[in-house]
Amino acid sequence: MKLACSECGTPAADDAMFCAACAGLLAFETFAAPPGTSLDRDRIADRRRSSDPRDRSGVWRYRELLPPIPFEEIVTLREGDVPLYEGPRGAEYAGMRRLAYLHLGMNPTASFKDGGMTVAVSRAAATGARVAICASTGNTSASLAAYAARAGIHAVVLVPSTGISAAKVAQTLDYGATVVAIDGDFDAALVTVRAMDPQRVAIVNSVNPYRIEGQKSAAFVMLEQRNWRVPDWVVVPGGNLGNTTALGKGFREALALGWIDRLPRLAVVQAAGAAPFVHAQRSGGDLVPVVAQTSATAIKIGAPASWRKARAELAALGGTALDVDDAEIGDARAIVGRDGVGCEPASAATLAGLKRLIADGTIAPSDDVVLILTGHVLKDGAYAAHYHESGAPFANRILRGVDPSEVIERLSAPA
Ligand code: F0G
Repeated sequence: MKLACSECGTPAADDAMFCAACAGLLAFETFAAPPGTSLDRDRIADRRRSSDPRDRSGVWRYRELLPPIPFEEIVTLREGDVPLYEGPRGAEYAGMRRLAYLHLGMNPTASFKDGGMTVAVSRAAATGARVAICASTGNTSASLAAYAARAGIHAVVLVPSTGISAAKVAQTLDYGATVVAIDGDFDAALVTVRAMDPQRVAIVNSVNPYRIEGQKSAAFVMLEQRNWRVPDWVVVPGGNLGNTTALGKGFREALALGWIDRLPRLAVVQAAGAAPFVHAQRSGGDLVPVVAQTSATAIKIGAPASWRKARAELAALGGTALDVDDAEIGDARAIVGRDGVGCEPASAATLAGLKRLIADGTIAPSDDVVLILTGHVLKDGAYAAHYHESGAPFANRILRGVDPSEVIERLSAPA
């Protein structure tokens, strides 16, 4: 698989992280089966029945579509094979007939990052890296920490010293990473990481094209569970925009392989205080960075690295980008919980965005929609607790000083 600049097209050296000509982000070419051959999607899907963890991984099962990494160097935690859930309460809330959640928070470290990290860390290990580094709002750091621990390499994570989930930091410490809190936000941390020498340390933010290759498999895992029926719309939260890039590439490759007969449309949802990509899409011009502000801390990002790639994917898939405010995210998150599913705030931007897209007629109530939930509900317990104490519209109060049998009687009464 060839690696080239995603902006100027200059071919890149195998071990480069940025374009030598223009410093743009690198990308692997769109996968196509060698002439005269075909890849059987059902044969690949059937690998789930093998007992080899690499076959059971929803990422490595699709290894023919990944950059080549020696089989014995693969570092896997059985990531990627996440459930697709029906969301009747979410559907009702958004004004849809039905909808489904692809829950990437059901990955080993409870976020979608694992799908990309297994590939980036396997590659780092295969090339003899001793140390890997990332900037993070919390989930990338937890994912890197876990995979680095499995690979026996050191993980260093740069996180903002305030305003990220304590649970994510604790999880990262647990896996043994070195956590460096910086006096600045995610964007500042990413600037520091991007300035590092990739020969000295493996950079595993989503500027690393191996991350994108792993994360694209979420599209295949979703399609597999739908018997390759293509949804009308896929809705994804947008921060640094790596995931938008990865999903778009996954669907395009599935189409190129003849696994599906059309592309879904893609909607990217940002938090209103961290929506530079939405503004750029509306203006049609270059992205203008902002100082990000939102209580959905995972997507508190003001200078998304992958915005050009994400723009290209939205153009290819006929997509759209919109923003929702923090109160909408809070209520939508509570509703996802009422489906017995649950997610962290950033993930719920999808349901809040869907509600808007139904209201403005972009999506029809009868459309077939999949929301990408990117993080588990326990990733930000403090946010949930605060919501339920706040008296917000879907808050659920703790009762004190009541008789439990009276509660049961009340709940047993016919409606
Ligand atoms: N949802 C969650 C739960 C996230 O953690 C992130 C990003 C996103 C959505 C946005 O995805 O950046 O690919 O557009 N979290 C990164 C981190 C920045 O450091 O954990 P994106």
